[in-house]
Amino acid sequence: MEAWDSEDAVPRDVLLQKVSEIDGLVEDGDRIDAELLNQAPRLRVISNFGVGVDNIDIGEATKRGIIVGNTPGVLTETTADLAFSLMLAASRRIVEGAEGVKSGRWRNWGPMNLLGVDVHGATLGIIGLGRIGSAVARRGRGFGMKLAYYSRERHMEIENEIGIKFMDLNPLLGECDFLSIHTRLTPETYHLISEKEFLRMKSNCILVNTSRGAVVDTNALYEALSQHKIAYAALDVTDPEPIPPDHPLLKLDNALITPHIGSASMATRIKMGSMVAENLFAGLNGEMPPNPVNPEALKKALPH
Ligand code: DGY
Repeated sequence: MEAWDSEDAVPRDVLLQKVSEIDGLVEDGDRIDAELLNQAPRLRVISNFGVGVDNIDIGEATKRGIIVGNTPGVLTETTADLAFSLMLAASRRIVEGAEGVKSGRWRNWGPMNLLGVDVHGATLGIIGLGRIGSAVARRGRGFGMKLAYYSRERHMEIENEIGIKFMDLNPLLGECDFLSIHTRLTPETYHLISEKEFLRMKSNCILVNTSRGAVVDTNALYEALSQHKIAYAALDVTDPEPIPPDHPLLKLDNALITPHIGSASMATRIKMGSMVAENLFAGLNGEMPPNPVNPEALKKALPH
């Protein structure tokens, strides 16, 4: 067994060289494509440290009989907590306020100091009502928000349980005060929120993204924020990611960016780690992992 013992991503050339010798791979967002898989004749299982597998070319893995496992479910509530924290931080200017206290800019309470906007009573729009989207909606319900969502499919059970209404994307954009994105990144959702969509949004809208950066068109977002077409963006994911320190988005006062920490609680990361190990060992034994992404791959697997 060999481990990359650094918080920095494995350099591509190192990964390309190392995969030639391995049967199982644990990765956390590295690009796994045909080029890499071609270098990995022995590879039988990829265990992804996370639920989103947009970094992996699943079709190419399946063609080669390589099973992919991920970590659904265990990170739902933790990621929803972060999405909600971003909403609260953005609406109540928490980071700005805390920085003001630290730097000594804050001198006294004042009736017009750091006025934010209320979360209670506001309309929360959610894109993607899967596990995390519905966990965010439940939090919104608890905070007394009005709820609406857009998704490819209706989720009648959740609509009835939480009292959230379905809307098409365009009307939803025009109605919500907060928009929280919880859709997977696929060719269909790439740049789902771009120039046209920003024009439809209310100028007070606060955008929250904890899914994948590329669901939002970064250039269009920069324009929308700098021209105040929307009020604010609170993002845990960006495109590119990591966002370079000199990126124009980081110069804006109305953007708050955290470093992809959606699932980063100790308890959740421990659960994810166990799932990653279980998926890996099952795959190495030629068994179906507990959380397979492409179960059909095992039917294609050739004896090694
Ligand atoms: C996930 O689980 O998909 C997280 O975003 C980490 O990639």
